[in-house]
Amino acid sequence: MNGHANGNTESRIDVAIIGAGLSGVNAAYRLQESCPEYSYTLFEARDDVGGTWDFFKYPGLRSDSDLFTFGFQFNPWPHDNPIAEGHLIKSYIRDTAEKFGIDKNIRFGHRLTSADWSSAENTWTLNIEHNGHSKTITARFILFGSGYYNYNEPLEAKIPGLENFQGKVVHPQFWPEDLDYKDKKVVIIGSGATAITLLPNLAKTAERVTMLQRSPSYILPLPNNSNGLLLWWLVPLSWFLSKATIARIQRMAWILIARYFFLLCHKFPKISGWILRWRSSFYLPKHIPLDPHFKPRYNPWEQRLCVSPDGDFYRCLRQGKADIRTDTIKTVTKKGININSGETLDADIIVTATGLKLLIAGGAVLRVDGKEIEIGKKYLWNGVMLEDLPNASFIIGYTNASWTLGSDATAQFVCRLLKSLESRKLIAATPRMKPELAKQIKNLPLLNLNSTYVTTAESAIPMAADRGPWQPRDHYLKDIKFATKGNLDDGMEYVQGPNLHLRPKIA
Ligand SMILES: Cc1cc2nc3c(=O)[nH]c(=O)nc-3n(C[C@H](O)[C@H](O)[C@H](O)COP(=O)(O)OP(=O)(O)OC[C@H]3O[C@@H](n4cnc5c(N)ncnc54)[C@H](O)[C@@H]3O)c2cc1C
Ligand SMILES: *[C@@H]1O[C@H](CO)[C@@H](O)[C@H](O)[C@H]1NC(C)=O
Ligand SMILES: *[C@@H]1O[C@H](CO)[C@@H](O)[C@H](O)[C@H]1NC(C)=O
Ligand SMILES: *[C@@H]1O[C@H](CO)[C@@H](O)[C@H](O)[C@H]1NC(C)=O
Ligand SMILES: *[C@@H]1O[C@H](CO)[C@@H](O)[C@H](O)[C@H]1NC(C)=O
Repeated sequence: MNGHANGNTESRIDVAIIGAGLSGVNAAYRLQESCPEYSYTLFEARDDVGGTWDFFKYPGLRSDSDLFTFGFQFNPWPHDNPIAEGHLIKSYIRDTAEKFGIDKNIRFGHRLTSADWSSAENTWTLNIEHNGHSKTITARFILFGSGYYNYNEPLEAKIPGLENFQGKVVHPQFWPEDLDYKDKKVVIIGSGATAITLLPNLAKTAERVTMLQRSPSYILPLPNNSNGLLLWWLVPLSWFLSKATIARIQRMAWILIARYFFLLCHKFPKISGWILRWRSSFYLPKHIPLDPHFKPRYNPWEQRLCVSPDGDFYRCLRQGKADIRTDTIKTVTKKGININSGETLDADIIVTATGLKLLIAGGAVLRVDGKEIEIGKKYLWNGVMLEDLPNASFIIGYTNASWTLGSDATAQFVCRLLKSLESRKLIAATPRMKPELAKQIKNLPLLNLNSTYVTTAESAIPMAADRGPWQPRDHYLKDIKFATKGNLDDGMEYVQGPNLHLRPKIA
């Protein structure tokens, strides 16, 4: 195990960060840079850093955001390609944790099972499970970098007759690394980013891969080289500007391009939908018609847009090793799938790429003075803290831009909150909904996406409203401004008290 702090010195910490994925590592860096007088420890249930990028193992696993914005601002992505494979992202997270000494503060194999806030003592008591034992740790602030989905259970999809199937059924969330799909017939059920990644990668060695989708997604082919066509002007700049400056410009350019593309899609849904479909038709082989296979029922960016680096998805369809069906399942049989058109798809392996089950706070039970807080029944304050939950913050990134951008805005907000309250001698901060406001508000979705995995998860994620500090976050440039300058008092209740002695940071 890393680190040198023994159990005793660790039983009281200032900030407990839950999770050592992108969000946890980013938050740790922000804390040690701007609040060095606060000690922090990251508790990670797994045995390694990386979160999502350590957990998922399916062939071809990759980002669909560009790494210039998906990567850390303080340690820019070191490679040229904007879309990266999972193992590269994981090494990048690990290297970053090592480079900045964050790894020393990670406790692996430590799962938070519950957290109790005591108003009498103004502290959190964390119950942490480690090697089958449970230990308690007190903390002054909790920062949840625990991601947004359940690692143990995928989204249930009812597939009629699946129990009859005599081949192998695989869920991408639990991909067996020794799965042999060479010369096998594979059917992928689903049409999200995972299915679109899997198809070309499985088709490299499988006999045949068929993607069976209920409804299509937009799939945007994107050049997989340094900056594509849009950022050619960075090349002459790189002759006389430093690497760090170029990295900053590159990151900002990608933030703006993605933002304007997103806005364009929302403002002109008809035209942008048409352009995206026209791009698809350009790449498709003759035997696969645009309609119905590439004609989504929704407008661009109502659900997450899928990308295909260098059009690998389309290339694989053109090469004839893969196929696509837009239909529903009648029943799964011993040897394949009967679809409602009457056709039977033979299969040796069925991959159920049916999505993630959303989960906030990594399944930990949260209590205030012994009373359990139901996350799905509370509003999120400015996208960062939960109504009625003192001294805790949730890192929930964006769904319509790189997650990390939102995650960094939250981390920077928490640093400012800690410093500001320290200087005002306030010891607890709790978002509260004013009763008169509660009567006026209308609910809004927190995550602005219509995907099934978001719409079926309403009870698992916090709520958002149409006014006051309870509105969902909007975009990075606005949220960073809020993090560094926004109003900390609107809808927040404070407890004044003796300034708690801060423990010196673990060296
Ligand atoms: C296949 C896939 C591809 C994706 N691609 C993109 C993309 O291209 N762009 C994008 O913006 N987003 C993408 N996402 C979303 C992605 O998960 C996030 O962007 C990002 O990786 C989240 O980082 P995180 O640190 O917030 O959470 P995670 O990566 O989920 O890490 C959370 C960590 O917290 C730990 N943890 C959870 N609960 C507890 C607990 N109770 N106690 C202790 N530890 C706990 C977990 O073990 C994990 O290590 C993708 C998601 C998936 C599944
Ligand atoms: C509670 O959190 C605030 C920041 O939100 C921090 O300044 C304060 O010290 C914390 N309280 C205690 C008791 O540590
Ligand atoms: C993208 O480019 C990188 C670097 O050249 C390469 O390693 C990777 O395999 C490419 N990815 C795809 C999906 O083509
Ligand atoms: C989701 O769908 C509903 C109804 O189909 C629509 O009114 C709403 O605007 C959509 N939301 C988003 C974010 O696209
Ligand atoms: C982007 O998503 C956020 C929620 O994650 C939402 O509040 C925001 O309105 C979206 N942006 C636009 C322009 O729709």
